[in-house]
Amino acid sequence: MGVLRTLDVDDILDRQRTGGLRRRLRGRDLVGFGIGIIIGTGIFTLAGVEAKNHAGPAVTLSFVISAVVAGLAALCYAELASGVPTAGSAYTYAFATLGEIFAWIIGWDLLLEFALGAAVVSRGWSGYLANLLGLPPELFGEDATVNVGAVLVIAVLTVVAVAGIRQSALFTNTLVVVKVAVCVLILAVGVFFVRGANLVPFVPPARPPDSGGDVLHQPVVRAALGMEQSIYGIAGMLTAAAVVFFAYTGFEALANLGEEARRPDRDLKVGILGALGVCALLYVGVSLVLTGMVPFVNIDEGAPLAAAFNSVGMHWVGALIALGAVTGLTSVMMVELVTIGRIGFAMGRDGLLPKALGTVHPRWGTPHRMTIGGAVLIALLAAFVPISELADMVSIGALSAMIIVALAVPVLRRRRPDLRRPFRVPLSPVLPVVAALACLYLMLNLDVLTWIRFAVWLGAGLLLYACYGRRHSRLAEAERAAARDFHELRD
Ligand code: ALA
Repeated sequence: MGVLRTLDVDDILDRQRTGGLRRRLRGRDLVGFGIGIIIGTGIFTLAGVEAKNHAGPAVTLSFVISAVVAGLAALCYAELASGVPTAGSAYTYAFATLGEIFAWIIGWDLLLEFALGAAVVSRGWSGYLANLLGLPPELFGEDATVNVGAVLVIAVLTVVAVAGIRQSALFTNTLVVVKVAVCVLILAVGVFFVRGANLVPFVPPARPPDSGGDVLHQPVVRAALGMEQSIYGIAGMLTAAAVVFFAYTGFEALANLGEEARRPDRDLKVGILGALGVCALLYVGVSLVLTGMVPFVNIDEGAPLAAAFNSVGMHWVGALIALGAVTGLTSVMMVELVTIGRIGFAMGRDGLLPKALGTVHPRWGTPHRMTIGGAVLIALLAAFVPISELADMVSIGALSAMIIVALAVPVLRRRRPDLRRPFRVPLSPVLPVVAALACLYLMLNLDVLTWIRFAVWLGAGLLLYACYGRRHSRLAEAERAAARDFHELRD
């Protein structure tokens, strides 16, 4: 069996009954966690940056394209999450279908996605807060030697995450109400300032128009062929789609809460698909309003939405947007911390990480050790390393996990046709395969440096697996015990 050994689905479900997490989340908490982690930097910053640099007004279509890809992946997540509701999500599904080494890689990849996401966002949060309250940039800005703001926010949120899942849900839901209200306000007020002329042409002409044009547009492919990167046109719109995919990442975190949902059958699929649907509608509306209000070449890259409203004299909306961004980013970090706790917990429970991490606090019912350990790493990273440009790593991490999840759907259907599936992806295996290909396609649109960094991270992960997980895995121990019994019986 070795590195391709798999976990039994019944075993996964059984383990939750003994020593698992507690079922305390209602449907609306799951939708709250979903929107809590989804709406963040993606819409408040990236929409403007991508409109200006890659897509023009067509950034709205980029949001539609990435919503379709995210939606396909969400269908696959919804099937697995409601059929095998467990902490660890994609990591555990891979363990049940493809084998231990794939599970490890995907778990390692998810830890990267959420830890880096939280670190990147905490630095952005610190900068926003400094702007809003006039705090000293030497302690809170991107150039700070030690980013005190980022460390403080991670520390406070860790206390909430460790205190309990209900407390985390309440906190997240409150923040979500504020940020959704701000998005609705942007739509309701902004629509009166949209000027048709700013939206024409909707897809600006491509630059450079020659050299493969729209066909060979993927940054990775162009770099390999030594070609200049193209912007605008269909090519720019697709590149922007890959970058703004970041704005949708996070819905998959919900699949990690399957072990804590009161009614996983119903609520997980509603949470995943509902949260994604609400966010997609808001994103498309907000990006249309933004590019309609300001000619795309004049968009402010630092705070695109607030600057758009300031430019038309609506300063009070600009101030509320800054508040919405700060609350939005806070909830993203909150859910990321909760998620890291669950993924590491699942990996510790299986022995691929130290087993001490796979335990639940007797009173608080949370995976406290992993949550605190993860938070310390994030705080160190956020304090000292200027990592804002690493946001694309979050997207590549999420997309690769989605490919595995999409492939796991038909594999598990074949292997366990009897499993109860409260939600089924329509047209399997066609739709899951299309979902996997669509994710791969978006990955190809990310830049070369992101691919190199991702490969280095996976290489480090494989090394760690070879040195630790392979031998300490619970399944490896079971295999050794079985071999011992066999020898004893024979002797
Ligand atoms: N989807 C999250 C954001 O846009 C990570 O910030």
